[in-house]
Amino acid sequence: MSEKNLSKTSPLPTAEDKARFVQEMFDSISPRYDLVNRVMTFKMDQRWRRFGVNSLNIVKGSKVLDVACGTGDFVKILSSMGYDVVGIDFSIGMLSYANIVGLAQGDAMKMPFGNSSFDGLTCGFALRNFADLEVVFDEFARVVRPGGRICLVEVSRPTNSIVKLGHGIYFDRIVPRVGALLSSSDPYKYLPASTVYLPNEAKLRSMLLSSGFEGVTFKYFLGRSSQVIMATRSGL
Ligand SMILES: C[S@@+](CC[C@H](N)C(=O)[O-])C[C@H]1O[C@@H](n2cnc3c(N)ncnc32)[C@H](O)[C@@H]1O
Repeated sequence: MSEKNLSKTSPLPTAEDKARFVQEMFDSISPRYDLVNRVMTFKMDQRWRRFGVNSLNIVKGSKVLDVACGTGDFVKILSSMGYDVVGIDFSIGMLSYANIVGLAQGDAMKMPFGNSSFDGLTCGFALRNFADLEVVFDEFARVVRPGGRICLVEVSRPTNSIVKLGHGIYFDRIVPRVGALLSSSDPYKYLPASTVYLPNEAKLRSMLLSSGFEGVTFKYFLGRSSQVIMATRSGL
């Protein structure tokens, strides 16, 4: 990650540099990304992805796109469940640690797929990393066919004051230290800080509705520290 992309006062990049900053950051942490994820979430990240895939509720063999696929966790789960999966990510580093053939390098804001190409779409832990979430949701709506289903897994911030306190100590203080120990320091300071980019439930719902989705539902896990958002592409 180049120092020039970092704002001086915060672990967050400046708005103009966000895409490049995020891409370079994931390239740099890719070798130990999976290990840190599993340790940080006590392996519950995989449980949340599986819950999302099961909730897609589309027939086996359907075409599913995993956006911002990283090292391929969603792609592997989807393939093992019999879906015809394509993954896309803009970090070559992350893709190279996926060990899966057929993943594409590309930008979620301008994907190289035709309209209505997919029956389903997944996206794990990437919403807060996109430079423009509205553009990305419009792209999701463009590439998913009417009636197709999407599943977005993300971190979240608890609202209950006691849970919030415990979560704050863990996520804002312990996670950056674990990340620094197992991988590198700055990216794991960015991780908790980047939740400021996440719109709340009402805003996310309204963004998805205006991009062309309906039936938007939210399911929260672990005291609301993670969320799985499901929606259906309207227009059937
Ligand atoms: C936290 S990782 C999540 C990886 C994977 N989805 C998972 O569940 O572990 C976020 C991923 O989003 C990717 N990403 C961020 N912005 C992107 C964009 N505009 N286009 C494609 N990939 C992007 C990063 O390269 C990174 O691999």
